[in-house]
Amino acid sequence: MPMRRVSILFSVFALCAVGLVAQNADLAQYQTWMKAGAAANGALRAAVTAKDAAAIKENSVKAADAFDAIAKYWADKGKADAQKFSEDARDAAKAVASADEAGQTAALGKLAGTCRGCHTPYRNGSDFK
Ligand code: HEC
Repeated sequence: MPMRRVSILFSVFALCAVGLVAQNADLAQYQTWMKAGAAANGALRAAVTAKDAAAIKENSVKAADAFDAIAKYWADKGKADAQKFSEDARDAAKAVASADEAGQTAALGKLAGTCRGCHTPYRNGSDFK
């Protein structure tokens, strides 16, 4: 094989490797947000059931922050539908803190709906689709 072709092949492999590393770093960062958002969602539900105002406030902020970061991630990727699910999740998480009891239940339902809405098109276990 001519040397030039070998070096082109080598460059292609090198580029692929760089791409994989970048994607893994992306995924690791994403999982940090996703885990924080999921944990805060669970804690928020428990806090609403327990009528624990301090815990409601705390986990509302945590969930909203996580989904806000996730919204920016998808905005950067140009995925408007995923961005919308994340923004809806963020806004619903925020709304729980200021709502009355009926409003809290409605906001928690809205928040839960965003999980499956986004997972179906974009999640493959612990990876992106
Ligand atoms: C905008 C899209 C989106 C929304 C909204 C969303 N998820 Fe995810 N989720 C993903 C993607 C993509 C993955 C796969 C990558 C990963 O594992 O983090 C994932 C992974 C997860 C994981 C596995 C994390 C891990 O350890 O890898 C959990 C748990 C999770 N989501 C819970 C939730 C819950 C609970 C909600 C709703 C309150 C939610 N998600 C809302 C996109 C979303």
